[in-house]
Amino acid sequence: MKENLKTKLIELKKKKNAVILAHNYQLDEIQEVADYIGDSLALSKIAMSVKEDVIVFCGVKFMAETAKILSPDKKVILPVIEAGCPMADMVTAEKLRSVKEDYPEAAVVCYVNSSAEVKAESDICCTSSNAINVADSIKSNKILFVPDQNLGSYVGKQIIDKEVILWQGFCIVHNRVTIQNLLHIKEKYPSAPVLVHPECRPEIVEQADFIGSTSEIIREVKKLKDKKIIIGTEKGILYTLKKQNPDKEFILLSEKLTCMNMKKTTLKDVIAALENETNIIEVDERVRKKAYDALKKMILL
Ligand code: 13P
Ligand code: SF4
Repeated sequence: MKENLKTKLIELKKKKNAVILAHNYQLDEIQEVADYIGDSLALSKIAMSVKEDVIVFCGVKFMAETAKILSPDKKVILPVIEAGCPMADMVTAEKLRSVKEDYPEAAVVCYVNSSAEVKAESDICCTSSNAINVADSIKSNKILFVPDQNLGSYVGKQIIDKEVILWQGFCIVHNRVTIQNLLHIKEKYPSAPVLVHPECRPEIVEQADFIGSTSEIIREVKKLKDKKIIIGTEKGILYTLKKQNPDKEFILLSEKLTCMNMKKTTLKDVIAALENETNIIEVDERVRKKAYDALKKMILL
């Protein structure tokens, strides 16, 4: 059955001149058929360079929107339109405009997990893999960091010459990991290194051996000699980790590390959306141009 679906998708991709991009958190069945798998930054760059006319973005809405902002001439499809990111919804352009008035001297650094409208209100974007470099590049000594308070707090500790004002957003998935989870796992596997995503709470990040984006965690694991490794990010990452490291055992920091939005997209959804060309992402051109500037500054760094 699955093989039939895979064959159908290959034919459709050829017919529509389409490419499939998948985030590291997608279901295994999606990662199996993707042309490219990566973190937010890598996928944004790939979206800009692919030759195909259609990009099927298997991820959440802000990711497909980012691809559209960067590649306006491409048709960008998000197979399941309801696949959103609750953290991205924790900041609106309207609220940001009002808070900006309280901090007129601050530069707004916006995590890519945000809407096109919020990006358009920001000075520069960042992802989890370049947030420190982005903050470092800011001339002003005040940064308003939106929307993730955990990533912002991590950045603030590295950038000591600037004040980082934190928006009160967070990832509902990474925020579920508690210090008790970490202490319990460390007691069970005392010599296993702990690799976490910076969306985790500060007390988790402080205790970790490595902090990085999903792709940075994947790269780091390859270098490690350890046979047991503790992972503090969404469980979809285990697909690549297990494939690339069959001799290693991975222990998730918490069983609650599942992002339901990332799991909404199935192989059937991808086929249906591509076949019928539905769920096409559009961004208002005035908003797109401003959001593009914020993203381009980040990419050029
Ligand atoms: P990455 O950019 O590290 O892949 O993270 C995206 C994300 O949504 C993490 O929750
Ligand atoms: Fe958003 Fe968190 Fe899901 Fe990433 S894991 S898409 S930040 S809710």
